[in-house]
Amino acid sequence: MRLENKKAIVTGGAGGIGRATSLAFAAEGASVAVVDLNAEAAEAVAEEIRAAGGNAIAIGADVSSEDDIIRVVATANEAFDGIDVVFNNAGIIRRTTAVETTVEEWDRVFGVNVRAIFLMCKHVVPVMKANGGGSIVNTGSGWGLKGGGQAISYCASKGAVVNMTRALAIDHGPDGIRVNSVNPGDVDTGMLRDEAKQLGQDQAGFLAEAAERPLNRMGQPSEIAAAVVWLASDDASYVTGSALVVDGGGIA
Ligand code: NAI
Repeated sequence: MRLENKKAIVTGGAGGIGRATSLAFAAEGASVAVVDLNAEAAEAVAEEIRAAGGNAIAIGADVSSEDDIIRVVATANEAFDGIDVVFNNAGIIRRTTAVETTVEEWDRVFGVNVRAIFLMCKHVVPVMKANGGGSIVNTGSGWGLKGGGQAISYCASKGAVVNMTRALAIDHGPDGIRVNSVNPGDVDTGMLRDEAKQLGQDQAGFLAEAAERPLNRMGQPSEIAAAVVWLASDDASYVTGSALVVDGGGIA
């Protein structure tokens, strides 16, 4: 049990990668606060964990809202008496170029993908510091490191996640808080399927293209979760500020 007695928050916990990581955290012994805009789906994941004998609560929240983040941190801290691990994973994508992107869409993508992580760290770091430390994992993307087509706001936001992670690691390392990013390639989730729709492409063809990489397939949410468990756990005790790529060799 690599996360025994740890208390964790997972944002976007009802989605593909978030659900898999919530289940993996619980299987490793952590208590998990499953946070999602979709409160009903978050509750279903928390119930799945409890049915398997684990400890979980669900919190419906919009992570781009400071009031909601304050409520999430307070609720989890009260329920579990501390917070050791945060997986800042909620994210959205808009498959548009700069010319096609509205200012509102740009701001929404940055609100969910970037501001939410700043807000969570602003309010959870003092709690972790008071408890002697913790581990924060932020979801970046392969496209946050190398860029990608028709996703200008997403690529910019994920680049920000990667560098914000390094800055957080520098600022809070002395407090015993490690901060890393996990950077997935194409993973078989609702988001990836929605991208095909946004681009008006045939879904089967889109997914086949997503599988074109050295390992010859898309990633599964559980394969990202495995990396996040490692980063969250004491096995990664000397790892901070890193950008871990989990992409089946998406060299492009
Ligand atoms: P998903 O769409 O299955 O899950 C995202 C979850 O975030 C959903 O449950 C959604 O309700 C929640 N969410 C969205 N906006 C929110 C908000 N304002 N407040 C709270 N929750 C909110 O997507 P997936 O694939 O699991 O994505 C998780 C993370 O992984 C995202 O940050 C995404 O950018 C990243 N990622 C995904 C890749 C993929 O191929 N699926 C590749 C690289 C990165």
